[in-house]
Amino acid sequence: MTEQRQLRIGVIGCGVGMLHLQGFAGNPRAEVVAIAGLDEERCHELAKQFGVPNVYRDYQELIADPAVEAVTVAVPNILHFPVALAALEAGKHVMVEKPLAPTSQEGQKIIDAAYRASRVLGVVFNRRGRHDVQIVKREVERGNLGEIYHARAFWMRRSGIPGLGTWFTSKEMAGGGPLIDLGVHVIDMALWVLGNPTARCVSATTYAKLGPKGRGQWQGGRFTIAPGKVYEVEDFATAFIRFDSDLTLQVDAAWAAYTGHGDDFGLSLLGDNGGAEIHAKDYAQTGTLRFFGEIDGMPTVTEPRLLERHGHGEVFRQFIESVLDGTPMSPSGEEGLDRVRLIEAIYRSAELGREVEVGELDHGTQSAAGEEVRR
Ligand SMILES: NC(=O)c1ccc[n+]([C@@H]2O[C@H](COP(=O)([O-])OP(=O)(O)OC[C@H]3O[C@@H](n4cnc5c(N)ncnc54)[C@H](O)[C@@H]3O)[C@@H](O)[C@H]2O)c1
Repeated sequence: MTEQRQLRIGVIGCGVGMLHLQGFAGNPRAEVVAIAGLDEERCHELAKQFGVPNVYRDYQELIADPAVEAVTVAVPNILHFPVALAALEAGKHVMVEKPLAPTSQEGQKIIDAAYRASRVLGVVFNRRGRHDVQIVKREVERGNLGEIYHARAFWMRRSGIPGLGTWFTSKEMAGGGPLIDLGVHVIDMALWVLGNPTARCVSATTYAKLGPKGRGQWQGGRFTIAPGKVYEVEDFATAFIRFDSDLTLQVDAAWAAYTGHGDDFGLSLLGDNGGAEIHAKDYAQTGTLRFFGEIDGMPTVTEPRLLERHGHGEVFRQFIESVLDGTPMSPSGEEGLDRVRLIEAIYRSAELGREVEVGELDHGTQSAAGEEVRR
């Protein structure tokens, strides 16, 4: 049954949390009643800007607020697990920023907690809200490209290490570098568009060539630099993934590399009846999609006219509908876990210098089999 009331939401984290506030601002079914963050000045500024009545410091204070029914989690990756767990155990519905967690073990525990609490769990794969991605998904589902046999997903930055020396470049706190930070977005884009095929094995390599030299810092961004701190993660990852079917996927993700890309991501699909290419330069939302086909043996290129969308707004709309109307949650916690498992396999392959099975890393902590997390 559709509930026509507003969902009372708490946003945890005031960095990208700003995009959460923007995403909810346009939604008449959302009321952000609290935000939390350790950077108090910024949190108070955001509260003022978006008319949020309560500002907390630590996430536990926000979770203890009985007025909050659902939380969004926008804190450093290492905190996704404790924050999501605490929120679910307190009976809140939860939307976690990508990646679901730095490890699949933690991701699995979050899913199990959502199941136990019978609460909605979603992951912020906001690129799914893009018009180009949605059109490609629809064309694939309609079979218009034929059988897709190869895909390429990439996110390449010329100079875009966020917060050199901060939590972003700590293996323990982030779980990895651009692969888990940016690669996770484009891996999700590819897998979602392709109907969530099952990855079988991976061959990958990671590099750290610029970060350890203190090069490649994000230019002009909100991120601080902590000089002298060790750079522990990769700055470029490349992976070749085989699926249960004939499908293969090439993934490249760089925070910093000497390349013509500025801050570009994209997805190419090769089908036996047509192809599609998304290339978003510097976060462009229009002029980014082309389809390739043929008419009477003549090659064709089609460029749909695209609309701009607020990606966070789109996935939060689905979250609110899932909580209030009981519709299935997409992007779901399970999809978030699937992407983390694949990323773990990529890191493992890079570490071992050989191809690995994706299942090799399973920790045997399957969720309650056959019983669905409410999503
Ligand atoms: N979907 C996207 O497009 C996107 C973009 C950027 C970041 N992210 C994700 O969002 C998350 C946060 O990234 P960021 O760039 O905002 O990082 P950030 O370092 O800029 O901000 C982290 C925020 O978490 C808060 N925080 C830390 N510990 C806390 C605690 N104990 N209680 C309450 N708040 C606490 C900090 O005060 C800060 O406000 C990461 O998981 C990142 O991967 C997603």
